[in-house]
Amino acid sequence: MRKLAAGNWKMNGLGADLPQLEALMADHAQPAVDVVICGPATLLTRMAATGITVGGEDCHPAASGAHTGDISAPMLADAGATHVITGHSERRTDHSETDAQFAAKTEAGWAAGLHVILCIGETEAQYRAGDTLDVLRAQMDGSIPDDATAATTTIAYEPVWAIGTGLTPTPQEIADVHAALRAYLTARFGDDGATMRLLYGGSVKASNANDIFALANVDGALVGGASLKAADFSPIITALENAD
Ligand code: PGA
Repeated sequence: MRKLAAGNWKMNGLGADLPQLEALMADHAQPAVDVVICGPATLLTRMAATGITVGGEDCHPAASGAHTGDISAPMLADAGATHVITGHSERRTDHSETDAQFAAKTEAGWAAGLHVILCIGETEAQYRAGDTLDVLRAQMDGSIPDDATAATTTIAYEPVWAIGTGLTPTPQEIADVHAALRAYLTARFGDDGATMRLLYGGSVKASNANDIFALANVDGALVGGASLKAADFSPIITALENAD
C-alpha cells in the first residue's frame, strides 16, 4: 500500500496561506507517498488549483437539501476534493456527532467518489482508565460501514488527548494500539482490513515523525498544526518517504 501524509487545516486557512501549498509542492514535486491537505471548504478550489491533492474536513450525510451552513460530499468533489475526513473528535466535541452519523457521512463520502479518512480515538479519561482498546473497537463497530475497503477508506487513530497538546503516546503504546487495530480490521474485513491504511494523528511533528513512522502498522499520519506551514509539513513527508 502507498503511505499517506494527510494534513488537516481545521478552521484555518485564507487565500494568503496558499503560498504554503506552492512551497510544499516545490519541495515534493513527485512524492513517494500520497500527500493530501484537507482544508476549509471556502479554500478547496483554490487549494486544488495549486496542484496538490485536497480533501474536505467533514461532510453532511445527505447529497443536498435544507441544511443551512452544511457542506455535502458532492459539493466537496465539485470543488476539487478527492478525500474527506469523517469522525474527527472535534466534530464529536463541538457538534455532539455520533458514530452512527460518522458512518452515514462515510457512506456519503464514498457515494461522491471520495476516499474517506475516518478518525477514531479515546479521551484522556478513557486512556487513564485503561479503556483505550474497548473505546476504539466500539467506535469502529459503530462508524466503519460494513462495505469499507482498503481502496475507499483510511483509518486514523488520534488519541483526543494528543491532539494539539504536544503530548503523544509512547512509541510502544502507538505500536500496541495499531497492532490491535490491524487485528480488528483483518478479522472484520479480511484482505481489505489487512491492507487498509492506518494513520497515527495527534501532535505529529518533524521531531517525532521518524520514530512514529518506524512503527509496524503505521502507514502515515494525519497532521493538524504542523501541516499549516510548508517548513513544518515538508520534513514530515520526507520522514514518511524514508520510513521502511
Ligand atoms: P495536531 O492535530 O497535529 O495539531 O495535534 C491532529 C488532528 O486533529 O488531526
